[in-house]
Amino acid sequence: MTPRLLLLLLIVAGFTGTEVAIADGEYLIGTGSHDMTGPAADVNLMGYANINQNAAGIHFRLRARTFIVAESETRGSRFAFVNLDGCMASQLVTVKVLDRLNSRFGNLYTQENVAISGTHTHAGPGGYLQYVLYIVTSLGFVRQSFDAIVDAVELSVVQAHNNLKSGSIFINTGDVENAGINRSPSAYLANPPEERASYQSNVDKEMTLLKFVDAATGKSVGAFSWYATHGTSMSRDNKLISGDNKGAAARFFEDWFASNSSSTAAGKPSPSAAVNIDKLVAKAGTVKATGGETCRETTSQGFKARKDREFVGAFCQSNVGDVTPNVLGAFCVDTGKPCNFNRSSCDGNDQLCVGRGPGYPDETLSTKIIGDRQFKKAAELFTSAKDKLRGKIDYRHVYLNFTNLEVQVEGKGTVRTCPAAVGPGFAAGTTDGPGAFGFQQGDTEINPFLKMVRDSIKKPSQYQEDCQKPKPVLLSTGEMFDPYPWAPAILPVQILRLGKLIILSVPGEFTTMAGRRLREAVKATLIANGEGEFDDNTHVVIAGLTNTYSQYISTFEEYQRQRYEAASTLYGPHTLSAYIQEFNKLAKQMARGERNSNASTLSPPDLSSEQLGLLIEPLGESPPDGIKFGDIKQDVAQSKDGHFKKGDRVSANFWSANPRYDLLTEGTFAVVEMLQGGGKWVPAFDDDDFCLLFKWGVDNKTGSSLATIEWEIPNEASPGVYRLRHFGSAKETVVSAVGYFTGASKGFAVA
Ligand SMILES: *[C@@H]1O[C@H](CO)[C@@H](O)[C@H](O)[C@H]1NC(C)=O
Ligand SMILES: *[C@@H]1O[C@H](CO)[C@@H](O)[C@H](O)[C@H]1NC(C)=O
Ligand SMILES: *[C@@H]1O[C@H](CO)[C@@H](O)[C@H](O)[C@H]1NC(C)=O
Ligand SMILES: *[C@@H]1O[C@H](CO)[C@@H](O)[C@H](O)[C@H]1NC(C)=O
Ligand SMILES: *[C@@H]1O[C@H](CO)[C@@H](O)[C@H](O)[C@H]1NC(C)=O
Repeated sequence: MTPRLLLLLLIVAGFTGTEVAIADGEYLIGTGSHDMTGPAADVNLMGYANINQNAAGIHFRLRARTFIVAESETRGSRFAFVNLDGCMASQLVTVKVLDRLNSRFGNLYTQENVAISGTHTHAGPGGYLQYVLYIVTSLGFVRQSFDAIVDAVELSVVQAHNNLKSGSIFINTGDVENAGINRSPSAYLANPPEERASYQSNVDKEMTLLKFVDAATGKSVGAFSWYATHGTSMSRDNKLISGDNKGAAARFFEDWFASNSSSTAAGKPSPSAAVNIDKLVAKAGTVKATGGETCRETTSQGFKARKDREFVGAFCQSNVGDVTPNVLGAFCVDTGKPCNFNRSSCDGNDQLCVGRGPGYPDETLSTKIIGDRQFKKAAELFTSAKDKLRGKIDYRHVYLNFTNLEVQVEGKGTVRTCPAAVGPGFAAGTTDGPGAFGFQQGDTEINPFLKMVRDSIKKPSQYQEDCQKPKPVLLSTGEMFDPYPWAPAILPVQILRLGKLIILSVPGEFTTMAGRRLREAVKATLIANGEGEFDDNTHVVIAGLTNTYSQYISTFEEYQRQRYEAASTLYGPHTLSAYIQEFNKLAKQMARGERNSNASTLSPPDLSSEQLGLLIEPLGESPPDGIKFGDIKQDVAQSKDGHFKKGDRVSANFWSANPRYDLLTEGTFAVVEMLQGGGKWVPAFDDDDFCLLFKWGVDNKTGSSLATIEWEIPNEASPGVYRLRHFGSAKETVVSAVGYFTGASKGFAVA
């Protein structure tokens, strides 16, 4: 608030000492963003449960992006919403973040009013969840993955908090075309025809966008959108850390905003006026590769300008359960024919049925296209947003034990949820990432041999088998506690209100129809209890994969079909009914301005002291004799015409070290530098850019680490002389200090 406005309001308030209200349609708004890229080597990527899919480099960085809204600095409600470029939220991350926020801010940010949501990228380092089933393929808990996320969430919230200023929030909605299709349409068809008839599509296409505008400057400080599509444009064979299509959309949106709105053009070097190709080529020829220089850690912060940007653009997940970004459909890899409709298999083999993205067979291109479709729609909604949010900020939150909830269901009377369990359809995986051989989606039987194997791990109780029907229990994770629990029992549900916008934080992946039922039930409850406070304009969005992860939530009808989403609906056939019942209770309290007098005494367990992790830290390394870290192994290849052009791929290979010694957070492992006047090199692209890849691997002759930097020259690159530069760090032995190094390729001309 400007001093003049403050004075004016004080006069209006008549110096009565009452709280100064913020103008109608204004809130305190703050945005923040922090790098959360975890270990780029050895660590299993979270999502596909593919034990061979370990990180080996970075396509672009992962970030935690936050907005905070408050009614006023000292009074009224506020909440913080954090969007992670991660596969899902983790209960343990949430618990630790809340601890840290508590020691910084007291009870300003608590479980009640903080939401931490995952974008569902399947290309982020795993090992940060606390239940056994979710950390099997990462060989248990990975401290470095976990810390990177907790630090980033905390720091992005702190940044948003420190940025709080008075501003307006605009809301806009529109349909995103061709960025998601239903991957289990046979399950969707199980829903009642009358219900299906009231929707045009078997997926939700709507994107909801919030635009945050600073009142003093009139400039936007952020945009957050929600739209449902899986983060599975990158496949189960990808080894590079990536934000997948939503991370890409965020990268494109923030870059677009920076280049469109700021004179500094994101700090990119400016093109030289007239370009003489021969001169460029001659100049490039004088630049030799360098290597083995030591450098201070800060010099790795290549493209620093980006980090100073104030605008935060985030793409959040919604009711994503049955929505795939592989929009060309799923086909049998052997015959090229469509897969079995009900089972998504090929002649009974689940592993042969694989979905295709719009860039097929190039998954990076698919990621770009699906990211671009979300970015373009968001940019359009952002530019045309006029509907200003007004009214209360509010929230409700409760922890529930989903093991044995009593649920009233119309026509069925009192039913119950069950202890967590997955069925064989879970093991079959999906068309985005097929699972184990011998399973198919839709399986309602388990063969006697598998039953024997299962029983040797944990025989499900008879109660559990009856409760989960028609799901055959493959793993009774809710009854498995060795060495610690395999699945969560205590789950949070949360409602956030920002004027007419209602955000439902759900700890899992609701299918399309499950999400619709929840949204509609909550809206009806708000309207019925709100005495005019809520009406048809009340807009409900689902924030998927928030605060905790508990896999899927399908409808009762979809559950009967036992495809992947149903087989992964942990708490039995009435899981969705339980959510609707409990969300309705919170909605009723919110609408009536009540709080639950029976404040829940439940809280989720903190299993951090019991976590086991078998992945070893890198123990120290040295380059081969006569070679220094950062030396070139293979320099940039000769180009055909002496210079490169847009669309060409340029790469160089360096002697390097494991990137886990230092994650170079808010820094970079790779930079494309451009030669400016006076022999000065200026960073033009870094490992957060879509066009620049950092790949890590081991030389199979010497066992030493190698780093490859690969640049696909983008349209926006100006003609000039460039070089590829690598930054890294290493320890010689376990006990030595971390040292930093850099190296650069020879120069090359781009025309
Ligand atoms: C981008 O530029 C166009 C045309 O100058 C302008 O209308 C639009 O508001 C700008 N968008 C942003 C994000 O600054
Ligand atoms: C899929 O399953 C449904 C319900 O069991 C059945 O009616 C339908 O014929 C099956 N479709 C195919 C193509 O097998
Ligand atoms: C959840 O409920 C089940 C069944 O009532 C009970 O056995 C279990 O101890 C509860 N879990 C927690 C963490 O309270
Ligand atoms: C509080 O608990 C009592 C006893 O379990 C129950 O009857 C009542 O409905 C609860 N009230 C709310 C608001 O949940
Ligand atoms: C060494 O690595 C190269 C490139 O990754 C690979 O083609 C080759 O098969 C490997 N050789 C051995 C002996 O593993």
